[in-house]
Amino acid sequence: MFITFDGVDCAGKTTQSAMLYNHLVLQNIPAYLTKEPGGSYAGAKIRQILVSEELDETEKLFLFLADRANHVRTVIRPSLEAGRVVICDRYHDSTVAYQFPLLDGLNQSTKDDLRNIATRGLEPDLTFIIDLPAEEVLRRMKTRKDNNILDKDDIEYYRGVRNVLNKIWENQDENRVIVKIDGMMGIEYIHQAIVKWFNHYRKV
Ligand code: TYD
Repeated sequence: MFITFDGVDCAGKTTQSAMLYNHLVLQNIPAYLTKEPGGSYAGAKIRQILVSEELDETEKLFLFLADRANHVRTVIRPSLEAGRVVICDRYHDSTVAYQFPLLDGLNQSTKDDLRNIATRGLEPDLTFIIDLPAEEVLRRMKTRKDNNILDKDDIEYYRGVRNVLNKIWENQDENRVIVKIDGMMGIEYIHQAIVKWFNHYRKV
């Protein structure tokens, strides 16, 4: 089973994906926790470029896609084939929310092609979108120390990302289950909600 987490920066995806992973381990469910960008050996090098170089949106797009294609081929698929539940902190929904809106001239069929090429056709079985108002993103960002150049001090930018993620949730079709979670709730409350949804949709 392939589970992804998405959301604006500082929404709590990293915390919640780790908590779900620990829960599965305690339940003796074989699991693998990974992230994008940088979840594979080559991807870690791609991530290094993404967080240290001033790149434009086109350049970033292809690096995120290359990271994903490598991640799916070398890490995610082999883990799924070994029977693990794979939990990934960010996946293609991030590209849809962060890169696609900033690039002019991408029509839907091009976006679909890019998605299929990068994901190699692998769609998540279950996605958690942790929702957070843009004001709260900036507030939390100021209190966290490890910001990088992908983190922007721009409220409109995060409003845009949040809107796209909400649209992805609203427009989900029968091929995918997407659950939206209120990131303003407490960490433990969110974790319990995620465990409930996992048990409901569990495919192991
Ligand atoms: P990261 O430091 O991993 O932290 P977090 O996911 O907790 O915010 O930063 C990843 C950054 O990369 C984040 O700002 C979102 C961005 N990103 C994209 O713009 N497109 C993508 O496809 C992915 C996977 C991430």
